[in-house]
Amino acid sequence: MLKFEQKLRGNVALGVNPLGCKQEVLNQIEYVKNKGTYQGPKKVLIIGASSSYGLATRISLAFGAGADTIGVSYEKGPKNERSLGTAGWYNNIAFREAAEKEDLIAKNFVQDAFSHESKQEVIEYIKNEFGGKVDLVVYSLASGRRTDPDTGETYTSAIKALGEPVVGPNINMQNQDFYTETLEPATDQEIAGTLKVMGGEDWQLWMEALKEADVLADGVLTTNYSYLGTELNRPYYGGGTLGLAKADCDEKAKTINAFLADINGKAQIVVATAVTTKASSVIPFFPVYCIGLYKVMTEKGTHETPIMHIDRIYRDMVYGTKAEYDEAGRLRPDSWELDSDTQAQTKALIQQLNKENFNTELAAYDILYKEFSILSGFMVDGYIEQDVTIEELKALEY
Ligand code: NAI
Repeated sequence: MLKFEQKLRGNVALGVNPLGCKQEVLNQIEYVKNKGTYQGPKKVLIIGASSSYGLATRISLAFGAGADTIGVSYEKGPKNERSLGTAGWYNNIAFREAAEKEDLIAKNFVQDAFSHESKQEVIEYIKNEFGGKVDLVVYSLASGRRTDPDTGETYTSAIKALGEPVVGPNINMQNQDFYTETLEPATDQEIAGTLKVMGGEDWQLWMEALKEADVLADGVLTTNYSYLGTELNRPYYGGGTLGLAKADCDEKAKTINAFLADINGKAQIVVATAVTTKASSVIPFFPVYCIGLYKVMTEKGTHETPIMHIDRIYRDMVYGTKAEYDEAGRLRPDSWELDSDTQAQTKALIQQLNKENFNTELAAYDILYKEFSILSGFMVDGYIEQDVTIEELKALEY
């Protein structure tokens, strides 16, 4: 019988509980089903579909709007008892099994979304087996590296400040420690690398390839998740390298909008709220902001997990009547986070935090840690321990 152990290196999860991942996918499906159905797209491509925002998007659209979905992600399967693979691998499988039970198409491509080959394979599949066209393309990729498909050069992103170093408190979930970190300003090379990896270039390449192949339906929509944040995290996010990458996505949205005009298509930047994900847990200082914010938002009844936030985005905003846009045309579901009283209370709260009290009921470290654990299949509500062998895990097909 396999033993699943939660192991961390800093704020990176190393262990996985495949059965817990499956239960969490089922929990999210249940959440969406309890909200009932909504009118939405029927053929959806999600790039970055295996965890957090991308997975939640897939679940909401499939089980809320009855969409067939293609999910592209980069995940690892099990090799042996010590190398069980990644959570996203098992999320993909759990999603496909549940969707197929409801006669929905759920095709998984597990490969490098940045390559030309991946784009062509997905296009061939859309043409030959997916009805020929998609009406929504969701770009929800987060990565630390990208190989340029034309030059073969590999770029690395760096989450850094610009100009001046930033000094502030951070949390290490492995040691349950609250400590002071100094974030050095990025070099020109790090700025360029982050733009290449987390900017909008690959989103644009996907949309150009899909348009060129004539697999975009008339009126197609493409969404891309951004984050703007507030003065509390601007020095290291909005005003740092990631902020530049997100601004690049704003620019690429304009380019995409221009070339989609003849098919009445639209590129939509969605400024999403701060949530606990694999990607956000390694942003320096961000966990401290989150435990303050989550505490305040939980008390106000506005704290959301990815599935809650994403389902509200598509059900109520994109395909509903409650959309809120800013002057730049971006969709702003993050208005609950940005609410002035929420921000003022969060600021006051995080100023009081220190080594001794960050893990008490003063803040929401407990919520952050539980949400982080759930990403790898631990601390999942409704999970019941079961026996499973490595052979059984290896036999699962994505
Ligand atoms: P995540 O780390 O949970 O998911 C990233 C996804 O990208 C996974 O499905 C992964 O398999 C896939 N991926 C990574 N490299 C790939 C590659 N080379 N080829 C194919 N797939 C690959 O990330 P998260 O946090 O859900 O982020 C998604 C987007 O949402 C990002 O643009 C992020 O900036 C944005 N966002 C996140 C917020 C947060 O608080 N986590 C807030 C607002 C926006």
